[in-house]
Formats: sequence, C-alpha cells, structure tokens
Amino acid sequence: MEPGSVAETKEALKGAGYLADEPAALVSFLAQRLSKPVLVEGPAGVGKTELAKALSRATGRELIRLQCYEGLDEAKALYEWNYRKQLLRIQAGGSEHGWDDVHGDIFSEEFLLERPLMQAIAGAEPVVLLIDEIDKTDQEFEAMLLELLSDFQITIPELGQISATTMPIVVLTSNNSRELTEALKRRCLYLWLDYPELEREMAIVRLHAPELSEALTRRLVEVVRMVRALDLKKPPSIAESIDWARTLLLMGSDDIDKATFDQSMSILVKHRTDIDLVAERVGVKLADPLRPQA
Ligand SMILES: Nc1ncnc2c1ncn2[C@@H]1O[C@H](COP(=O)(O)OP(=O)(O)OP(=O)(O)O)[C@@H](O)[C@H]1O
Ligand SMILES: [Mg+2]
Repeated sequence: MEPGSVAETKEALKGAGYLADEPAALVSFLAQRLSKPVLVEGPAGVGKTELAKALSRATGRELIRLQCYEGLDEAKALYEWNYRKQLLRIQAGGSEHGWDDVHGDIFSEEFLLERPLMQAIAGAEPVVLLIDEIDKTDQEFEAMLLELLSDFQITIPELGQISATTMPIVVLTSNNSRELTEALKRRCLYLWLDYPELEREMAIVRLHAPELSEALTRRLVEVVRMVRALDLKKPPSIAESIDWARTLLLMGSDDIDKATFDQSMSILVKHRTDIDLVAERVGVKLADPLRPQA
C-alpha cells in the first residue's frame, strides 16, 4: 500500500519509532510513489541506516541489507553459482546424459545462490533494500549497481535478464568517504541528513530514554550542541546523545554539573585530542553555570 501524502509517511515513520524532519519525510514519500532509490548522505550517527529500518517497520516490508565494504563483489552482492551442487549434479548424471543436457540443467535457477540484491528484486513480496555505506565500495561496484537501480533488473549471462517481480524501496547510505559518481546520483533521490535542531533532537532522545526528565533532556541536548560547535575530530551524534541520556539515568544524575560531565564525557567524545579540548572548553563553562541555579 502506498502512502497518500507526506504527512501520512511522516506519521507512519513516527509510529515505527523514527522522527523524520520534512525533507526526510518528503523523500521517503517520493521514494515509494516514484519507485526511485534514495541516496542518504550525512555525518556518522544521524539516522541514515535507521531511516531504512524504520521504513521497513512502517511498511511491514522485510528489510534486506547489503553491508558494503572494500572489495565487495558481485558474487557476494548479486548472485553466485552453487558450484558444489553443480558438481554433484554432473557426477550424479553419469555418462548416459550428454553434455548439452547437463549444461542446460546446471545453469538454471535451481543452481543459483541469490545474494541480497537479487533477493530484493526476485522475491514474491516487496521489500526494503538497504545498501549501507556504498562509499566503502569501488566505482566498478557502483557501475554494476546502475542497471539494477535504473531498470530493476539483473543480467545473468547464462540465464538472461531477470526482471523485478516486485518493486523494492531502495535506500543507499554514504558517509562521504569518497565522492559518488554522477551516474549513480542521477538515478537517486537525494537526502542530506544533518544533526537535528534542538527540539527534534530532544524528541528523539526522549523517545529512546523516556525516563529522563524533560528539563534534563533539554540541558543534555544543549550541552551536546556546545560540544558539536567545537572543532572536533568526531563531533557527538544522535547516537551519542542517546547513550549519554541512558548513562545519566544509570548514574542517577538530576543535573549536568561539572563533576557529572567530567565523569561521563567519554560517552560523547572518543578521541584523545577531542577529550582534552572538550574538557577545557565545555567543562569550564559548566563550572561557571550557564543559567542561574534554583
Ligand atoms: N530521526 C530519528 N528518530 C529516531 N531515532 C533516531 C533518529 N535519528 C537517529 N536515531 C537513532 O540514532 C542512532 C544512530 O542512527 P544510525 O545508526 O541510523 O546512524 P547512521 O547515520 O547510519 O550512522 P553511521 O554513518 O555511523 O552508520 C540509532 O540508534 C537511531 O535509533
Ligand atoms: Mg549507518
């Protein structure tokens, strides 16, 4: 069932535990209505992967995930011939069958091992296909993806074309570790996810750590934003905000003072140089309260 409006998509994502901003809701809506893949880029930990998972929960479609890495090839991503089974078939065939018979047989679908990309288009039910961290692969792999993303079909030399029986919702994510090709970008809808604004980050943190009071959640997000404003090697993301909220709950803290901050800041920043900088710049501000204490 396709969503009728952007608002409906946003609501469905919310029901699946994902608070989308307007651009994210719009792109999720269009992806379903235009049957186009979505390329999601942005810094680490801002909800790129989670968007695909939430779309799967919201639509009730199975999630098929292809985690990309350097050296990923067609055999792992698309399909592979089941050599072992083919060999057994040849041996079992004995000598009474001619080579032509056997050849026609062992290069049929029965001897094919479907990998995620093929599973995503050849299944009986429509799925959500997550191609995670596409920037980790090389350009040859990207080129291979193009046929799939534009025509939703795969060509297997021995079998011919396999066309999609159902339309998947495709989400590709990238951390920008390399520039993706124009050809790939042209085939996709584009979404840039960034750190959320204050109110939305508060809502996301509260969703994941509902026991934390609203006042403390606000304080937490304000401090995280102060940390983000520094020139850090790896600024804290939403994932770190959530972890910090859970840590504060476990520590039983009811405010973020300098002592609490010093004890728990390793949840937020994870590089030696960042820790020093944050302790110096933010820790000091907390010692000298930002707001009048009640
Ligand atoms: N809009 C949102 N609503 C609810 N939860 C969110 C939202 N955005 C992010 N999160 C939460 O933040 C965490 C990090 O998100 P996710 O793993 O999707 O990040 P990412 O962008 O894929 O990061 P990376 O680039 O490191 O893979 C998850 O636990 C997710 O639940
Ligand atoms: Mg991710």
